[in-house]
Order: sequence, then C-alpha cells, then structure tokens
Amino acid sequence: MNSTPEQNKKNTAPPAEPKWNPYYRRNPDGTPGGHDRTLQQNAARADAAARDVRQRQADLRAMGKEERIPPREQQGLGQPVRRTAPPRVRSMGESDPMPQERPRTAPKNAPKNAPKTAPNDTEGARYRRHENGTMSRLYPSHAGRRAKGNGKAVILAAVLILSVALIIGIVAMIRGAKGVPDYTYDYNGAYTKVIPGEEAMVEDVPYLNMNYLAAIYGMTVSGSYEDMKFSTADGEYVSFMPDNRVTMVNGNRHVMSAKALLRGQEMWIPSDFVESMFDGIRVDWDHEKHTVTVRPATASEQDTKPLPLTFKLRPVTSSAQTENWEEGYDYLTDMTAFRDAIEPANRDAYLMLVNKENALAANYTPADLVEVTNMREGYTNTQYMCETAERALQALYRDLFAAGYTDVGVTSGYRTYKTQELLHEKYVLLEIEERKISRAEAEKYAGRYSALAGQSEHQTGLAVDMYNTASADASFGETEAYRWLKDHAHQYGFILRYPAEKTNITGYDFEPWHYRYVGRYHATQMYEQGLCLEEYLAKLG
Ligand code: DAL
Ligand code: ZN
Repeated sequence: MNSTPEQNKKNTAPPAEPKWNPYYRRNPDGTPGGHDRTLQQNAARADAAARDVRQRQADLRAMGKEERIPPREQQGLGQPVRRTAPPRVRSMGESDPMPQERPRTAPKNAPKNAPKTAPNDTEGARYRRHENGTMSRLYPSHAGRRAKGNGKAVILAAVLILSVALIIGIVAMIRGAKGVPDYTYDYNGAYTKVIPGEEAMVEDVPYLNMNYLAAIYGMTVSGSYEDMKFSTADGEYVSFMPDNRVTMVNGNRHVMSAKALLRGQEMWIPSDFVESMFDGIRVDWDHEKHTVTVRPATASEQDTKPLPLTFKLRPVTSSAQTENWEEGYDYLTDMTAFRDAIEPANRDAYLMLVNKENALAANYTPADLVEVTNMREGYTNTQYMCETAERALQALYRDLFAAGYTDVGVTSGYRTYKTQELLHEKYVLLEIEERKISRAEAEKYAGRYSALAGQSEHQTGLAVDMYNTASADASFGETEAYRWLKDHAHQYGFILRYPAEKTNITGYDFEPWHYRYVGRYHATQMYEQGLCLEEYLAKLG
C-alpha cells in the first residue's frame, strides 16, 4: 500500500455511543461548573415531585383516604447530596429496618357472642371456630390430626432452616475459596464497618468510602450523584464521578488508578488515591488481618495534634493565563470568547501521554465529551471530543476558514477502546490481503499507522483527525491547508502529534492529519522548541 490507510472513515463501523455526561462543565476559571446546574435541576425535580405528592394527598383526603409519603431518601436518587453529618454506620450484620407490620384487628363481622379467646387455652385443649362465630372443643381424634399437620410444618421449617444454613455455608466456602474475606474498616474510631471482601478489594484494588472520610474530617458533601464534591473547611475540594477514573482536585484534572464507584448514596474510591493525593491522613491496610484504619496524620509519632487535611494538587489560579493573552500570537479573528479553551487556567491538565508504552484501560472514558462541531462534509457519524479541546478546535476552525481553507473537516475524534480494536483489526486484515503476508508481519505494518486498542490517543478525547484530501494519507502533507495547520495549530492549543522527523520517537509514521490538544502554553513550547510530546514530557521531568 503506498498510502497510509487511516482512511475512508465512511466505511468504518460507527463508534459505540460514548458515555456522555451533560453535567460536567467548567466555569471560566477552570473549576467544574456542573454542580450548580445539577443542583438547580435536582431542586426543580424535587419541588415538582413534592407538588405531585401534595396534590395526590389533597385528592386522597377529599376522598377520605390517607397516603404515607415515603421519606425523602426513599423517593429516589438524583437529589442533591448535602450532608454535613456522617451517614449512620450500621454494625456488622445489621440490616435496613423493616417496615412495621400493621396491627391486627378483629374482623368487623365477627359475631358478638364469639369468645374472644379460646377458653382454658393454657391446658392445651384445642378449639375450632365455627362459621357462626361460636367455638367448640376439638377432642383427641381431631387434635391428633392437627398435631400431624403441625408435625409436617415442623419438618418443613427444619428443611428450610437447613437449606438456608447450607446456602450460607456454600457462600462462605466460595468466599473463602476466592480468598476475599471480609474487611473491617475503622474510620478514626468513629465508625467501624465490616465490608465483604469483593467490595473492599475490587479487582485487587483496595477501596475506601469517601463519605466516611468526609465525615471524620468534617468535609461538606455537595453536588449530585453524577458528580459528588467533597470540600474542606479551607475551601479545598475533590470531586468524583461514578464509574469514572477522572477526578478534579482543587480544579486540577487527575486520572485515578481505578474508577470511583457509587454504592447506594456513597462514593467509594481507590485507596491509593487517598494515600498519594491527600496530606494529613494516614491509611493502614493489614491484608493479613483484613483490616484498614484511617487516622488523621500527626507531624510525628509523639505528636497528638492532627494535621489539617489538604490535597497535594494545589488550587488552580488564573496565573497560568497570560496578562496580555494575544500578544505574540497571530490570530485572524477575535478569539476572546475562546480564551479559556485555548489557554486553560489549569495548563498542565491536558498533557496526558498515551502511546505504545503508555496505554489506557479498556474502560477509560473521558468525562466531558461533547459533539464535534467542525465535521467534514458528508461524514454523518457524530464524533466527540473533550469539551475544552472541542472548543479550542472551534477557535482553530474560525481562523482556518478565515485563512481560506474551508474544505478541511474532522473525520475522527474520540474513539472507544472497542472501536480502536475493530479499526486496528481491519487494517491488519487489509495488510494481509494486499501484501500477501503473514499476520505477524501485517501487525508490524499496521502498527506503523494504527494504534492497538488502549494505545490510541483518540481514546483520550483530546485527539482529532482532519484533512481535505480524499483520505487520511501522506498526500495531505503536501497541501497548503496542512502547511497552515502545521504553523498555526499551537496558537489554538494543538500539536502535530506525529511529525515526519520524529517517527523513531513517536513510533508512528508521519500523520499530517492527526492533532492533539494540550493547551496553548505547552503547544507553543513544543512548536518553538521543535519537540514532540514524548521529548517535551521527558524534558519537563
Ligand atoms: N493513527 C493513530 C496512531 C491511532 O491509531 O491512534
Ligand atoms: Zn488520528
């Protein structure tokens, strides 16, 4: 094949629908701005639900009936989490309280002369209630039959108890066989809880309950179940989204080793995140005894004064943004509205390295995907990118069009792990067919232009393919549009990710169509110093 075939995207299967989190937004200063919106939506939803309940109650009262309103927490998730007091911790084996059984009342139509209780009941005599409400004594022949019936019931009960015991035994055996015994959690002596091993250790990753941590440190919990925020009294914060590895720590985007898990109303997070990102906290796991203790850290062993809880990632300030932000840059149109995307306040948040040595987990999904605006004409498969990157791309397109290159369009943005797997396999099969070579050889050829699943930057949501030639091949590198992109992309926060002169470092052939968002500051540094991302990050240390 003489053209590099990351081509003809019209023929590729549409990418699986990415997880779209409409609540995740940034404020102009870079802090997540989704909370307020979510809170407003939740509050409106809760108000509407309360109105419905009140109306229903009024209707029922008018009809002479009453209805019990379920407690707020039973009305469903999706309401604001505002909890300053800790959740009540149940001790081992304690379960949710059962609803009260209604008190039994005698049937209204029971005849007046019916005895209220059977006479001489204590003597063991048995009685039968007749339909007219009177009672007569059962003599031994009847009582014997009843006794037989009772015997059956006893046997049934015994079988039932034995079966339950057997099931409990089997479950315990399976647990034991799997080697995940229960763990006892102790949160600063204030709360203790026993957790099944599979919940304490998820795929060998130890987890902690963030809501309990918040409780012992007096943190405020706010936001929503989609994006739960924990704030210290000093105004530092960390927020988590369920099933997502991305967190925001004081406005810094950080990717955890494993995803956050929402269990009931509580957020569970990988322990290593707490251990490495929190200051003023001590976590001790004992995997022999299956215990974990969480304690406020002190300056020394002898010291009893707890250190304040802070986070390693310091609050983002707007100092990363330049004072006179257009100085030294050559924009064709007014870029003021795009400033926060082009030059993000948190300028180090987009330097993620994904390549042949640094792969993403199969379930890594960016939290803030939005639809790509500047699609190539005729490409109907909606593409997605991270919100900031997409907005910076809009800025780039304003000037690209202003420069006269109106036929360049996006063909590919975020790709799921699965999509990349299918795409890569397609290229391997094409290589086998066209070159008549073995699979192993075909994989080598395809590996020059197509990443293995997990190793593609497209999975970050920060990469984009755009061109105006018939396909994504080296011929785009000969066009004027490419020359403009090569020399201007950095102004909008993008880098040419696989330059012709860096193929031995990046591991990929020249890709004039593939750009990667890193933000303007770093993009400019790389452009001016002639460094690819691998070189630049190595230099930064
Ligand atoms: N074409 C680039 C290397 C990718 O497959 O992600
Ligand atoms: Zn690409």
